Amino acid sequence: MTNKYMYFVANWKMFGDLRTLNSLDAVIKFSNFNKKNKFKIVYCPPNTLIRPLSKRFKKTRLAVGAQNCHQNENYGAFTGNVNASMLKNVGAKYIILGHSENRQTGETDKLINLKIKIAIKAGLKIILCIGETLKEKRNKKTNQVLAKQINNCLKTIKNKSNIIIAYEPVWSIGTGLIPKFEDLSKSVFFIKNKFGKKSPKILYGGSVNTNNITQLKDINSLDGFLIGGSSQNSKKFIDIIKKTFN
Ligand code: PGA
Repeated sequence: MTNKYMYFVANWKMFGDLRTLNSLDAVIKFSNFNKKNKFKIVYCPPNTLIRPLSKRFKKTRLAVGAQNCHQNENYGAFTGNVNASMLKNVGAKYIILGHSENRQTGETDKLINLKIKIAIKAGLKIILCIGETLKEKRNKKTNQVLAKQINNCLKTIKNKSNIIIAYEPVWSIGTGLIPKFEDLSKSVFFIKNKFGKKSPKILYGGSVNTNNITQLKDINSLDGFLIGGSSQNSKKFIDIIKKTFN
């Protein structure tokens, strides 16, 4: 049983409509009944649901986050995009940046660095995703990749108090695979070490589910989880939180 303050971040990706939000009443109820457990729940729905969700979460311990933003600080001719201030304005408190699904479509560390700076300026807390591909893992490049992503994405950002790192091996996202206990412990240790004494909180993400949480929660250095598929079902999500504290 952990005594630590744990984060449970739900990454809904491209999922959910207004009706889906009704299922979250169970999560609100659960968090109200479990005040003794120290946790923070953050839902990151698609942009279309940020406003209604933030209204629903008023007077609860739950918070809302976004999944990405445009790097431009101001309004501009960027069809189909929103910037960090616009997300903050509709109720987002957090933002996931650098997710591998966006890196795969061309997002670079440099661009992520720009987005982080603008999002911090807008008053959002950052959940920065980092992680190696399967090829990089096989070539024993994991630490090298993590170091590079951390250095480049956080370049010239001195105050890291609003940054949370989510370690998400690309090969574990949506595949049902998770790293071996030892490998994951080593990677988390490596990341922590990279920051020294002032390490940000570190989450693990990638195929977290109601079964493997019983192993994952034993990695003491973790501060929580970034949960994709399993967060779309309130019962599973609650179960993951419950098992973390059991
Ligand atoms: P998953 O997604 O839990 O479905 O693997 C995690 C993520 O992409 O953040």
